[in-house]
Amino acid sequence: MIVAVDGPAAAGKGTIARRLADRFGYAYLDTGALYRAVALSLLRAGADPADPEAAARTARNLHLPDTADPGIRTPEVGLAASVVAAIPRVRATLLDLQRNFARRPPDGRPGAVLDGRDIGTVICPGADRKIFVTATPEVRARRRHLELLGRGEHSIYSSVLADLRERDARDANRVDAPLRRSRDAMVLDTSFITADEAFRRACAFVESAQ
Ligand code: DC
Repeated sequence: MIVAVDGPAAAGKGTIARRLADRFGYAYLDTGALYRAVALSLLRAGADPADPEAAARTARNLHLPDTADPGIRTPEVGLAASVVAAIPRVRATLLDLQRNFARRPPDGRPGAVLDGRDIGTVICPGADRKIFVTATPEVRARRRHLELLGRGEHSIYSSVLADLRERDARDANRVDAPLRRSRDAMVLDTSFITADEAFRRACAFVESAQ
């Protein structure tokens, strides 16, 4: 069983995907963390995230444990990740890792949940269930802003909203695997429902495939 969860930044897809994986005993892969880990490694090396050579080399050397570094969660790394993710060779390099995870989930799990931007369209077009999680830019920016404040970080709502719009535009307009809803995906708009209600709907959708 493969569940694809796609959507723009801060729509709540990570929370939904992780909870689905927990509920059904499936393996979970946060594919955004792969691009973030590549971006962090480039930034730490003083390299330009837009440099295709350096980015592709870094992607080739990426190992799953690199995605556990808490340093990948900063807004700077998020923006750099969307630059890295627009480089076709980086995407091609990370493709097999993601497909292998979906086809042969680790620890013999009976399924996998992957969240990202292109899971239902490019990585796993044959996924059993596809969910496109979305919310208005303002709601997403507010959530991200509160999350940053909650972590004790400095945050200004208007800057968070501007960053989100910049990332949305880059993720949706790139040539290779742009952020797009797969035609067979269920749309889950989380703007005006609670996280629990969003999870309940996602759960019912996945259950109906079993
Ligand atoms: O979901 P996130 O914010 O952690 O993703 C970080 C960046 O990685 C995002 O701006 C776009 C990119 N990304 C992608 O292009 N394809 C994916 N499957 C996941 C993330």
